[in-house]
Amino acid sequence: MHQAVLLTETVERLNPRPGGIYIDATVGSAGHAAAIVERMEGQGLFIGMDRDPEALARAGERLAEFGAVVRLVHANFSGMEAVAREAGVTQVDGIMMDLGVSSNQIGTPERGFSFQDDGPLDMRMDPTQPPTAAELVNTLSEFELADCFRTLGEEKRARVAARAIVRERSEVPITTTGRLAAIVEKAVGGRRGRIHPATRVFQALRMRVNGELDALAEGLDAGISLLAPGGRLAVISFHSLEDRMVKHCFARHIGRMVSLAAGGEAWEGTRPKLKAITRKPVMASEAELAENPRARSAKLRVIEAI
Ligand SMILES: C[S@@+](CC[C@H](N)C(=O)[O-])C[C@H]1O[C@@H](n2cnc3c(N)ncnc32)[C@H](O)[C@@H]1O
Repeated sequence: MHQAVLLTETVERLNPRPGGIYIDATVGSAGHAAAIVERMEGQGLFIGMDRDPEALARAGERLAEFGAVVRLVHANFSGMEAVAREAGVTQVDGIMMDLGVSSNQIGTPERGFSFQDDGPLDMRMDPTQPPTAAELVNTLSEFELADCFRTLGEEKRARVAARAIVRERSEVPITTTGRLAAIVEKAVGGRRGRIHPATRVFQALRMRVNGELDALAEGLDAGISLLAPGGRLAVISFHSLEDRMVKHCFARHIGRMVSLAAGGEAWEGTRPKLKAITRKPVMASEAELAENPRARSAKLRVIEAI
């Protein structure tokens, strides 16, 4: 079962209250969602979104006891505004996004996310949306594969890995996670400490298959535009590229006061729409890390609409 990361830290800052309207754009196994809905005391509206139908089914079971305040929607969070509109909502009091994949997704070999267990090379969070990882691995050019591994995986030996893949697939198409992991391991070298040599290539492919950075850019904009004055957006990221995107997006809206030559101060550019609730990202406590190593790279940032 997926263990919710930075649970107290996130829910305290979202500060849900009875009668409010909240969106969990990555509801997953509903760890955060259950804590949010509990604080709504049966009043208001909670919309839980996920692009993975299996996750939604789990969330449905876990949230069933809360009845009619909960509405679950199968959708990519890039379409958050449309989902809100369909629920008759124009402004919300709080939104959370807990990015990336869940332990349930990684731990199910048939979903094809894991290099630890053999399975079909799939990696789609939403199994109704192409492409699969196998389609990309067997059709992208060597240059495109290397570019993907370098930019999304920050893999230093991206070209070597891409070349090995192109060579091997010309013999037989690569259709399993086990074979891809073995090809990459042989090409880029042995284990680096505790990290499997295929980690970065798998991460890059997963991000590309699911269009994760594009979805995040659209999801952040949608979330910000939906916030009521005083409404908060909380984002937990696990990857430096994601965290950078969140940080820069928030900074663009938070704005900065600058000194004027004629004296006094004014906002640089347009008047800000947001204020920061977390000046620095919140990280997991030692106690949480001892229980859940996955929390090590988690960073929480929260903003509030003015
Ligand atoms: C880390 S898990 C969330 C776990 C959840 N907070 C909990 O407590 O169980 C991330 C979830 O977000 C979903 N997800 C990732 N990107 C998404 C997107 N662009 N739109 C909708 N759901 C997405 C994944 O399918 C996964 O179920």
